[in-house]
Amino acid sequence: MSSYLISNVSVVGAAPTDVLIRDGVVAAVGAGLDAPEATVVDGTGLVALPGLVDLHTHLREPGREDAETVESGSRAAALGGYTAVCAMANTSPVADTAGVVEQVWRLGREAGLVDVQPIGAVTVGLAGEHLAELGAMADSAARVRIFSDDGHCVADPRLMRRALEYVKAFDGIIAQHAEEPRLTEGAQMHEGEVSTRLGLTGWPAVAEEAIIARDVLLAEHVGSRLHVCHVSTAGSVEVLRQAKARGVRVTAEVTPHHLLLTDARAETYDPVYKVNPPLRTAADVAALRAALVEGVIDIVATDHAPHAVEDKECEWAYARPGMLGLETALSIALDVLGPQWDLIAERMSRTPARIAGLEGHGLDPAPGVPANLTLVDPAARRTIEPAELASRSRNTPYARMTLPGRIVATFLRGEPTVLDGKAVL
Ligand code: DOR
Ligand code: ZN
Repeated sequence: MSSYLISNVSVVGAAPTDVLIRDGVVAAVGAGLDAPEATVVDGTGLVALPGLVDLHTHLREPGREDAETVESGSRAAALGGYTAVCAMANTSPVADTAGVVEQVWRLGREAGLVDVQPIGAVTVGLAGEHLAELGAMADSAARVRIFSDDGHCVADPRLMRRALEYVKAFDGIIAQHAEEPRLTEGAQMHEGEVSTRLGLTGWPAVAEEAIIARDVLLAEHVGSRLHVCHVSTAGSVEVLRQAKARGVRVTAEVTPHHLLLTDARAETYDPVYKVNPPLRTAADVAALRAALVEGVIDIVATDHAPHAVEDKECEWAYARPGMLGLETALSIALDVLGPQWDLIAERMSRTPARIAGLEGHGLDPAPGVPANLTLVDPAARRTIEPAELASRSRNTPYARMTLPGRIVATFLRGEPTVLDGKAVL
């Protein structure tokens, strides 16, 4: 195995030092390290973070390999500074059996660019009727611990209760896509002043808040772990705040796009801005930012949702919801939070790794720790060109925007997956 000496680098915002990587682990951290055999990576001006961890990634394989594959999504992740991603279950076939989660897990290993941790479906075929084989997925080689019907809400309260009870035995998590189905029938965008003006069917904030309120009560009743996907409203933040104050075992994520963009984007009628849950108001964005800083929202998760051109470049009503996220998330976080490196490390690496139980991830560089880390150039600015993205899809909402920060290198267990801003494999 090779060794790398990252010289003069700021570890999570601290004063510059050297980091020596050898045999897959961090061998030493300190000024003036000497390692003649090591390849030197000049870290001057760069910040080293623990490799980012995404709890919410759609990799589309099996089934929609035209939009993304485990390999292309893994490459996008590595270029975005990630060393681990959790792959959502809404593939075709659905990841609702040990066979499918093992297939995704194996494809991730073969790609070897990030650790791919499959998420299993809660219900068979995401149909919301019968519990999937949660135990078999947990016992499989993929060792699934998070289950989600994301894309769909587990709307039946009895089924949600059973799922929470089932995963309690192995300290698993149910990750809920909180969307009351009857309140969002035909919904196209956030219900509010803009939807009224555009004449598009609205997705009211209460459809999210009502499910989160119900589910924190169920999680409290059962004593299980609940994770709330892509929180998008100020009201949801208040429900979560109260639940956490009572000691409910609930964690929550926010996406980069819900931290930056508002429903005003729908005025363009460009379906690149169609997403589920929808972009909300400026007041919601402000509440989400404050909640992320405060910790009521635990993590940033991308909800990276690649879609083929024909599913996005069409009339708004027919377009699929979702936007790319992996290659731009760190830049959006830097834009929104500023250079608060410890906070960024906490919300994008340490906490998501802890929630998902991903061993060896989310750890700051220190002797003996697996060398999963990423190097960021905070002074760089880059203009997003969709054609230059590693994802197979092009549906970024940040096209031609100039964003702060660039990922210079990413290391997975001591081997670079990205160097000089380019994918290595
Ligand atoms: O916008 C979304 N896209 N929201 C989801 O919940 C699912 C995702 C997808 O799979 O495209
Ligand atoms: Zn979702």
